[in-house]
Amino acid sequence: MNVHTPVKIPDGVYAETVLDVEHYTDRLFRFRMTRPAGFRFRSGEFAMIGLMVGEKPVYRAYSIASPAWDEELEFFSIKVPDGPLTSHLQKIKPGDTVLMRKKPTGTLVLDALTPGKRLYMFSTGTGIAPFASLIRDPETYEKFDEVILTHTCREVAELKYGFDLVEEIRNHEFLSELVGDKLKHYPTVTREEFSHTGRITDLIENGKLFADLGVPPLNPETDRGMICGSAEMLKDTKALLEKAGLTEGANSKPAEFVIERAFVG
Ligand code: A2P
Repeated sequence: MNVHTPVKIPDGVYAETVLDVEHYTDRLFRFRMTRPAGFRFRSGEFAMIGLMVGEKPVYRAYSIASPAWDEELEFFSIKVPDGPLTSHLQKIKPGDTVLMRKKPTGTLVLDALTPGKRLYMFSTGTGIAPFASLIRDPETYEKFDEVILTHTCREVAELKYGFDLVEEIRNHEFLSELVGDKLKHYPTVTREEFSHTGRITDLIENGKLFADLGVPPLNPETDRGMICGSAEMLKDTKALLEKAGLTEGANSKPAEFVIERAFVG
């Protein structure tokens, strides 16, 4: 049976067409698909993405990696060999159909932060996805003087999506001018040699992150944070931000940092 051709599209769901697929490693890929007319979201939010597997739809939460203004939708995904969704999703090709539930949501949005000068985006693995959206949104640069994207992976090959993003922004007709030198990319790896190595938590704790960037240590008056990674990474990074005096916010109560688990499956 062809799992990519829905037998019947469930109610309350968009059925979109895959436009482009790029594989980075045997564990990571991104895809772009059509954006439904009338589908609105805030940069940094996630949606439920799915495929018909046999007669049944299977969904997982996915951060939307494209910015709110983009005419297409982009997603950055892990490949789990026996994952209920990603074992199938990793095989999609242009022209295939992907399902998306209609309501996006999430806490990694600019509205959940109080005004500040410097925005830190701390990510590991596919946790870079919501930030791929936010670093391509002009509003991020209207609200902050400096935007620091940290991305930590086990291996250098897993950083490619982030490098490509920054390159895309630098070459983009409008974004390049708007972003100027406000965006700082800080990639690190933990299991290979590279120009920057180590967990982001260690680099915050020992001050190397700030020394490398030439910025002062975390300060609740000027600095804001967004964190996206594994449950353990969120817990450890959150503790360091709280130690520096930042408090966690939410859509209903903006504050100095927000967190969201990077999704798997
Ligand atoms: P490490 O190689 O030291 O485990 P994963 O694929 O397991 O989610 O890991 C992605 C990246 O996040 C790896 O570089 C990993 O480092 C790092 N990482 C894992 N757990 C934590 C944590 N609790 N705090 C900070 N970084 C973490």
